[in-house]
Amino acid sequence: MTKRKIGVGVVGCGEIAQLMHLPIIKELPELEIAALCDLSRQVVDSLGDAYGVAGRYTDHRDLINDPAVDVVVICTYDHGPIIEDVIAAGKHFTVEKPLAFTAEEAAPLIEKAKARGIIGLVGYMKLYDPGYVLGIERMASIEALKQIHVHNFAGRFDRYQGLYTQVRGTDVDPASLAAGREAADARIEASLGADHAGYKNLYLMLLMLGSHNLAVLRGAFGVAESVEYAKAIDPNHIFALLNFANGVPCVFEVSFGAQYEWWDEWIAAYGKHDEVRVDFQNPYVRNTAATVTIREPRGNGPSEVVVPGKPDTAFRQQWLHFIDCLHNGAAPRTSLEGGLEDLKLAQAIIRALPPSPKEVK
Ligand SMILES: NC(=O)c1ccc[n+]([C@@H]2O[C@H](COP(=O)([O-])OP(=O)(O)OC[C@H]3O[C@@H](n4cnc5c(N)ncnc54)[C@H](O)[C@@H]3O)[C@@H](O)[C@H]2O)c1
Repeated sequence: MTKRKIGVGVVGCGEIAQLMHLPIIKELPELEIAALCDLSRQVVDSLGDAYGVAGRYTDHRDLINDPAVDVVVICTYDHGPIIEDVIAAGKHFTVEKPLAFTAEEAAPLIEKAKARGIIGLVGYMKLYDPGYVLGIERMASIEALKQIHVHNFAGRFDRYQGLYTQVRGTDVDPASLAAGREAADARIEASLGADHAGYKNLYLMLLMLGSHNLAVLRGAFGVAESVEYAKAIDPNHIFALLNFANGVPCVFEVSFGAQYEWWDEWIAAYGKHDEVRVDFQNPYVRNTAATVTIREPRGNGPSEVVVPGKPDTAFRQQWLHFIDCLHNGAAPRTSLEGGLEDLKLAQAIIRALPPSPKEVK
């Protein structure tokens, strides 16, 4: 690819596109917003005016075929069918997490992307957070790793909304949105199987919130070997025990809907002498990075060092990495293959629950 500006087509111009992707694409000199697509014409026009973008679409296929669009970022609800069209058009892409709804949907997409030499990045921005990068580097030197713990009890989501002005449309037919969700639900239920279809909402919570944590865990310790145990504490709260190499266990717990006034999301690793923990910030707050806490012996006693998060935005780092992949051939740090591993593990966690053919409420 030449070093002219990379034309980005944004499909799905809702919350995450407006809070993070659009302002970051706008500010990075290597990128330009080439086209916008949303089901809502009102949203596309309003953002098109605000960002000075002429390419405005309500059908993603029109955006993909716009010659000004070099690469696509997918920020919709249902990603798989859009990725399929992006690959068919021979364009590189970033897709917000999760890669797709099921492993069965994701696997052929990866094969197609490989066959066409398409660069695809899954939007696990936390893996680009400098605090996380520092933390996993230190975790790698833990002596005699004993246990891992991953925790995400997301706090109040409404707190950050006051930080930003969002444009929402009123012109999308709710019936067509509901039909899209039902079609996706049917695919998920079929993938989970009759015995576990009742956990569809829990699985969706695991994908929407917990896929970040599956990726953070995999980024630090590789792919889990097995799921030993899982418990559905409520339809928005899952607890699981995973096994890693050398018999190292991982406590994995993800919960959505708590009304905490703080963001409670971290990964910790425990060794014979030392402990390392990475605490993530609220994902919607720009210019904040994760903090790292290191406890280790010093001299004849204990030491605790807290490395504060430096001002940085993980989403911005993710875009800089994508540019590096496009311009310099860097290997995607958050690869499609990794996204597939997370879907497989999410499915395995759900399948470790007792059978529940009826919806869990
Ligand atoms: N990385 C993160 O921390 C993070 C945070 C929030 C959301 N997300 C991910 O981003 C995606 C979007 O989430 P959101 O919170 O912005 O949701 P949202 O509902 O606010 O926005 C989604 C937008 O996509 C549009 N849309 C849906 N289907 C479309 C289609 N086929 N063609 C064009 N437009 C379509 C909708 O009209 C809506 O405006 C999800 O996959 C979510 O998991 C990631």
